Amino acid sequence: MTISRRQMITLVGGGVIFAAGSAAGGFVATRRPNRALAPWENAGGYDDPRMAALSWAILAPNPHNRQPWQAELIGSDRVRIWREGARNLPETDPFDRQMTVGMGCFLELFRQAAADKGLMVEMTLFPEGDAGPVADIVLLSGGEADPLFQFVSARHTNRLPYEDRLPSSAALAAMAPEASEIITDTERVDALRELTWDAVYIEMTTHRTHMESINLTRLGKAEIEANPDGISVRGAIQEALILAGMITREGQANPESSEFQQTANFIRSAQDSTPAYVTVKTAGNTRPDQIEAGRLWLRLHLAATSEGIAMQPLSQALQEYPEQSELYRQVHEMLAMPGETVQMLGRIGYASAIGPSPRWPLESRMIG
Ligand SMILES: Cc1cc2nc3c(=O)[nH]c(=O)nc-3n(C[C@H](O)[C@H](O)[C@H](O)COP(=O)(O)O)c2cc1C
Repeated sequence: MTISRRQMITLVGGGVIFAAGSAAGGFVATRRPNRALAPWENAGGYDDPRMAALSWAILAPNPHNRQPWQAELIGSDRVRIWREGARNLPETDPFDRQMTVGMGCFLELFRQAAADKGLMVEMTLFPEGDAGPVADIVLLSGGEADPLFQFVSARHTNRLPYEDRLPSSAALAAMAPEASEIITDTERVDALRELTWDAVYIEMTTHRTHMESINLTRLGKAEIEANPDGISVRGAIQEALILAGMITREGQANPESSEFQQTANFIRSAQDSTPAYVTVKTAGNTRPDQIEAGRLWLRLHLAATSEGIAMQPLSQALQEYPEQSELYRQVHEMLAMPGETVQMLGRIGYASAIGPSPRWPLESRMIG
């Protein structure tokens, strides 16, 4: 039995997603990983303004949903932010660049959440150098609310196929201030469809990089609730397919299997439906540059959300392992000036809405 395209859309780099089918509503409801999604409902529900801001910040986008952040409350108005090295992705992110970009998303969300409560954030990045904490933060009075903040709960990485039409000019205008570039011309869109697919294929057929994703795949509600991170496969139909042995870690891992081939086909068709791309670039590539790229990316995603535009990062060609080096060179030649780093590349367009991804509870990310 094969799985139809309507039933299943499988993606690499943060998601195996299966579009909802015709399963009975009651069963669907029981398969929702409520505990893993609770942080989306609990955001802001803390008296300590630092905890309140952190409870929003943990909703930030981050590579493979590893949620590498840790926070330590110091005194009555300070918070120290760390990145947990054990959550790194050594195969696909050997220099922790993407992890650091994810920390930038987190810090920008913290800033916006504090500002929404009238608090200003004084942030010192890497106070002890690259190897120590990521940031020391002091909360002061005087923050000004950011209009993008209201879209945080609606922001999700959307890996579904996109409609065959460009974002409206109003949407492009809303995104422009946060993007380095928005690519809409047919020639470069076609070239990027090809290039981003080639990069995914390299990742999927390079055993050690593919296994990094497979080992972080959570199949079904029980696995997601036990480890609310990584790549989640969830929903009633998906659980039925898992039970039937039609979605398996072994099948996804094996390039010779039909399961693997179907996955590859689904990813390709979703990526091929892309009408436009966005980038965030930096002139340098220091840790603070990577943090800044994350801040911009988060803002860009919120701006897209505010206009009903779906967005998905496509990071494979930007990854710094040897098998990707030729595509890394090509993507930089196409999208950047010599010396610049493309920190983020993503697809944008109109798509069906999707729900939130799991998060660890804030309390589990507190240290000290
Ligand atoms: C630096 C970075 C790189 C990412 N790369 C990819 C990617 O290549 N493909 C993808 O589908 N998602 C990618 N993501 C999105 C994450 O997988 C996503 O943020 C995470 O799973 C949490 O889901 P959410 O954004 O819906 O909250 C990336 C996110 C960040 C911050």
